[in-house]
Amino acid sequence: MLEESVGVQVSVVVPTFDEAANVAELLRRVDAAVGGPRTEVVVVDDSTDDTADIARRTAGSLRSEVVVIHRAEPEGGLSGAVVAGLRAARGAQCAVLDGDLQHPPEDLPRLLAALDGVDVAVASRYAPGGAAVGLSGWLRHGVSRTTTLVTKAMFPTRLHTCSDPMTGFFALDLGRVDLAELRPKGFKILLEVLVRRRRRIREVPFAFGARTGGSSKASVRQGLWFLWQLADLRFGRMSGFALIGALGAVANVALVSVMVALGMAFLPAAVIAAEVTMVVNFLLQERFVFGDLIPGAESTRRRFLRSFGFNNAESALRISLAWWLVSRGVLHSAIATALTLALAFVARFVFHALVVYRP
Ligand code: GDD
Ligand code: MN
Repeated sequence: MLEESVGVQVSVVVPTFDEAANVAELLRRVDAAVGGPRTEVVVVDDSTDDTADIARRTAGSLRSEVVVIHRAEPEGGLSGAVVAGLRAARGAQCAVLDGDLQHPPEDLPRLLAALDGVDVAVASRYAPGGAAVGLSGWLRHGVSRTTTLVTKAMFPTRLHTCSDPMTGFFALDLGRVDLAELRPKGFKILLEVLVRRRRRIREVPFAFGARTGGSSKASVRQGLWFLWQLADLRFGRMSGFALIGALGAVANVALVSVMVALGMAFLPAAVIAAEVTMVVNFLLQERFVFGDLIPGAESTRRRFLRSFGFNNAESALRISLAWWLVSRGVLHSAIATALTLALAFVARFVFHALVVYRP
């Protein structure tokens, strides 16, 4: 009787890669949470198992229409799959969630409601009330927290209001996000969406669950893809920071040599050169790297004191750590110096982007 005149309003995009153990339950739970004549589920499948068949079979008993796209040539990995799903979506409101039940489908109504009046709604593990219990072990926790911090430091303004840019659980309004601008690669499509343009974001906390069926496709290779994605999205700021840091290091060495040649003892020469380098680096970075982040009313002195204080503390800690590693015979002095310098570079960059030039 009732004509289906309203059409699809909400599309739920689910990327799957060998999720035969999860896809049926996932579809049922998505359907129970947000199913109906105005909702479709778009499964974008790159599997080698029978995930696509199971999805098609499960679809018959659901209220929502299920569209299964099996990609013969999986381009762009997980990110490419998500974008392919969004391109096929008929609803203006699109939610994306993983196909392994680590993102609870029961959170979809809250997530979609949060989309009201913004461009992107983000289901966050790190917003107050969220949890990342599904990240097994301290190592994955540590890696996740660290990469989140570094990523936020690289895009301080764009990601200012997002606590979890690496989540794969989000919703967006296709009327407000232009898919043609995206160049998907790797595992983290939300990051690209948030970084390409300034978006209005609203977050809802959620608990990232443990995977029970199938296995994760996260790998060192995905990690390298991620680094490439980061560098690609923001080569500017961090490379400028690195360049000035490197020039500073060269100047440091030159200064020490000159002072020693003029008859000064090594230790005071090294300290003076280090302090001079810190001041010059600060001025150059203020001018060339973080210039766009300087708040009009704030005094340069305040930023300088924070930067100078941190760099001094960092140097003391770095030299002590290197000395400890060398004296214990853990590492050769050159390796200890290089390693601690690399760590210090990242720490310094994070501190400057997030604290000294706090957006
Ligand atoms: N179509 C398609 N193609 N789907 C893929 C591909 C691919 O190449 N690779 C992975 N997937 C699917 C998986 O089937 C799963 O549904 C989802 O993407 C996430 O992949 P997992 O293998 O479960 O990876 P994870 O749990 O380590 O990775 C997730 O980490 C974040 C949280 O730490 C990412 O997928 C994020 O989405 C997630 O929020
Ligand atoms: Mn997973």
